[in-house]
Amino acid sequence: MAEKKWVLMVSLAFIMVMSPLSSRIMESAQVQHLNMGELASLVLGKFQFWATVGNGGEKKTVESRAIGPNMTACHHSYGRPDLLVYCCPPGFEKSVPFVDFELPDSRSPVKVRRPAHLLDESFIVKYNKALSIMKSLPYDDPRSFARQAELHCQFCTGAYEQLNYSDTPVNIHRTWLFFPWHRMMIYFHERILGSLIGDESFALPFWAWDIPEAMPMPEYYVDENSAFFHTERDFSHFPPRVADLDYSTDQNHPHRSNDEQIDVNLKFMYTQMVSGARKTELFMGCTYRANDGYCDTTGTVEQAPHNTLHTWIGSSLNPGREDMGKFYSAAKDPIFYAHHSNIDRLWEAWREINNRRLDITDPDWLDSFFFFYDENLKLVKIKVRDVLDITKLGYSFEEVDHPWLNHRPPPSVPPKQARQMLKLKENKNQVFVPDFRPDGRVLDGSFTVKVFRPTKRESKEEEEEETVVVYGIEVKGNDYVKFDVYVNLSDETKMNPKFREFAGTFAHIPGGGAAMKKKTRLRLGVSELLKDLEADEDESIWVTVSPATVSCSNVSIEGIKIEYIE
Ligand code: C2O
Repeated sequence: MAEKKWVLMVSLAFIMVMSPLSSRIMESAQVQHLNMGELASLVLGKFQFWATVGNGGEKKTVESRAIGPNMTACHHSYGRPDLLVYCCPPGFEKSVPFVDFELPDSRSPVKVRRPAHLLDESFIVKYNKALSIMKSLPYDDPRSFARQAELHCQFCTGAYEQLNYSDTPVNIHRTWLFFPWHRMMIYFHERILGSLIGDESFALPFWAWDIPEAMPMPEYYVDENSAFFHTERDFSHFPPRVADLDYSTDQNHPHRSNDEQIDVNLKFMYTQMVSGARKTELFMGCTYRANDGYCDTTGTVEQAPHNTLHTWIGSSLNPGREDMGKFYSAAKDPIFYAHHSNIDRLWEAWREINNRRLDITDPDWLDSFFFFYDENLKLVKIKVRDVLDITKLGYSFEEVDHPWLNHRPPPSVPPKQARQMLKLKENKNQVFVPDFRPDGRVLDGSFTVKVFRPTKRESKEEEEEETVVVYGIEVKGNDYVKFDVYVNLSDETKMNPKFREFAGTFAHIPGGGAAMKKKTRLRLGVSELLKDLEADEDESIWVTVSPATVSCSNVSIEGIKIEYIE
């Protein structure tokens, strides 16, 4: 240990002496320009940084493993598992000087994002003008609409390598980078739009698909004579049809009336935002660190309504329901930005519901960084920690209700009666053992397993969240996959997210390269659900997995278990 400390001191001294020099060396060598902190962490990373943490004198590694792209290493990538795409910016090979992010001037007007269904005509005209100008900029201009769309392609397909780790791609979906990265992207997009029309107060609207009156696609997106129109969409989903937040496919799905759909949507939102999202990881997605490969466990809202609506909007005539249905093409559709403006708002809503107690404090998340061009054509380096206070970022959301907060789903069958019916099924051998290893079970039909709950630990159980984990999920095909999970479901005809038995969904858009094909898991928070179903004292529960898309026949799972998370 003493040796390590010695190496550390020498290298720190070396950095201090060399830093004015080294930055010049790096500049001339066309290496990405690094500041002192990064240089230090680079060197320290090599030696591992040992520091004494806590009073027991126990040692802990604190090497930074924040994620960031190597901007000079971009390459072809997989937009769909069967489609190689190229979305690198022109001239990426040459490093570009950048500036560190600075908060906007606090005296500039606040950008108030308004709900899309309440916009007045003059705003729509203004936005249409800004978007038309953006669409007319040449491809060389990083502010152009085409280049904005490519940004999304680059970070969803793994086109960039991680800084310091060639061969390891950067991916922002299905990880804890999902919310902050998209916030950054639309933050700059919004500022560019405003600057193109000289309006500092310009704010992106949000499509509030979680409130009943705003659930159909906003009208201006379907106006063929506007810059908002886009041909690659599913026209059968145009207004007045209410969006299906739990969308699977139109084929094996009963067509719901708008009123029925609204009811399902609100109860579904409750599960995704409230009862299923009571722990950080359940909402934010998995912990993703540099050189860790790819984590691939998606947060509740990212799967649905986020992924489900991407699929719902995209065209059924295209193999991957492009454009919105695949991430490499999604940001080419102007509705993408209103969709993500709402996702951004729901992130804030979730933080508020939990009094910000669940915010991530891990430095590897806080220090993860990206680069975006701003409205002045400057390349800006921005970290996750820079985007956690929207007031400081200069924008806000016009307040709308969260009607889903009081749409807690009721049990479909009285719990005692359900238990009798399930026991009967079990006697008829219609219930399986929850472990299908080593070969896995193909999801070609719905099935029920009986899962024993680990004996509860004495202390802290108040704080713990019980989760149902579907593990070893392998997705083989190219198509959108969705399956649903129910707990103590006794009547198959009540398989509907408007009932309490619904624990959550796996809604998956395949894409990216080999790194994104790892087996994954689905983790669903069920503590509140078990209370409502009066099963929180039982020693076992019945879990039903039900495929919602035909593509589930390309999916296999290894098993289902229960785990507690703190
Ligand atoms: Cu990066 Cu809505 O996807």
